[in-house]
Amino acid sequence: MTRLRIAVLMGGPSPERDVSMATGQEIVAALDPRQYDILPVEITKEGHWLPRPDLTPLTTGNAAPRQRGNATTIERVVSHGSRLPVPVSFEQAVARDHVDVAFIAMHGPYGEDGTVQGLLELLGIPYTGSNVLASALAMDKLRSRQLFEWHRIPVPGYLSVTAPVWRDRDRVHRQVAQELGYPCVVKPNAAGSSIGVSLVREPATLDPAVEAAFAYGPMVLIEEYVSGTEITCGIIDDPITGDPIALPLIEVVPNAEFYNYQAKYATGGSEHIVPARVSAQVAQQAAALAVRAHQALGCEGMSRVDMITRGVDIVVLEVNTIPGMTATSLLPDAAKAAGIKFPELLDRIIRSALRRSRQQSTQSPRSPQSSQSSRST
Ligand SMILES: Nc1ncnc2c1ncn2[C@@H]1O[C@H](COP(=O)(O)OP(=O)(O)O)[C@@H](O)[C@H]1O
Ligand SMILES: [Mg+2]
Repeated sequence: MTRLRIAVLMGGPSPERDVSMATGQEIVAALDPRQYDILPVEITKEGHWLPRPDLTPLTTGNAAPRQRGNATTIERVVSHGSRLPVPVSFEQAVARDHVDVAFIAMHGPYGEDGTVQGLLELLGIPYTGSNVLASALAMDKLRSRQLFEWHRIPVPGYLSVTAPVWRDRDRVHRQVAQELGYPCVVKPNAAGSSIGVSLVREPATLDPAVEAAFAYGPMVLIEEYVSGTEITCGIIDDPITGDPIALPLIEVVPNAEFYNYQAKYATGGSEHIVPARVSAQVAQQAAALAVRAHQALGCEGMSRVDMITRGVDIVVLEVNTIPGMTATSLLPDAAKAAGIKFPELLDRIIRSALRRSRQQSTQSPRSPQSSQSSRST
């Protein structure tokens, strides 16, 4: 088998860059060097592409999450004063003549939302995970929810609020009181890692929560608070058929009032219980719903579907197209429970990327991937 050259893209300007740096570093460490030449690429906050043949020491001075125990903790990376890598153009960083697959280890806007995927499509570089449209839809909680509703996938009650809607905030307050009640959950429409998410217990704290969520984008969702057991279902492709399959369900028990940023990344912030302590019937229904949600958006390669179950009812909160991927993150934990070790999970995600690229080149002769022949152009 020929060795593949894998560019691992990490960082970026999103508020989730620190989590992305952790995901990227773990992927670089876990990819099998006998199969792959690994080309780590950091995208800086400013959008510069930095090839990082040697990921340590990181010299950007950014806070980067480090693995610790069952969760990830944020630590400051110490500069060792070595020479800073020189930025290159993205065409150079992921040029067709030296990269076979781009492993996108980026979370949130400008990474998980279809933008980097579009760039790689234009460059003709196969990339991991979902295509442009599915990535953009999944990042947009309102649009993905509208599709879920069309597919009769249960979601929490919600209102979407834009700046013009928020100008009549008395009306929003009335709607929240009548349609959703308190507590309710306020969140940015397109963010992740619970950044900007608030649990609002009373009308008096609704305004600051909405204002805080607007800091992350022009649309805010206000949702019915669903009290129940938080579960998440990892999805990967079947290696033979390419069909999406659900991994064992994980129950998340946050040591906080909800699964907020601290609960997600601080040491001891939460517990993962695999398999989730739900009935066989709920587990089966949740897995089926997760696959349907993944398919409703047209996701590919991998995803993780966040849900809450209350008795036998299950609601889907969102689909994450690039879930956290440190060795103890939820998707790798679920894969482990299915007997798939982290390096093998990464192999499967890479194989899915290649499968899509092959299909594209047979389906559309004019696509950039169709001219795989010349590396040196
Ligand atoms: N409607 C809701 N009811 C109860 N808890 C919620 C609701 N929406 C979000 N949460 C809590 O907030 C967390 C983050 O919300 P989520 O919609 O998954 O956004 P993110 O993309 O930031 O992960 C969830 O894991 C859950 O703990
Ligand atoms: Mg989530």
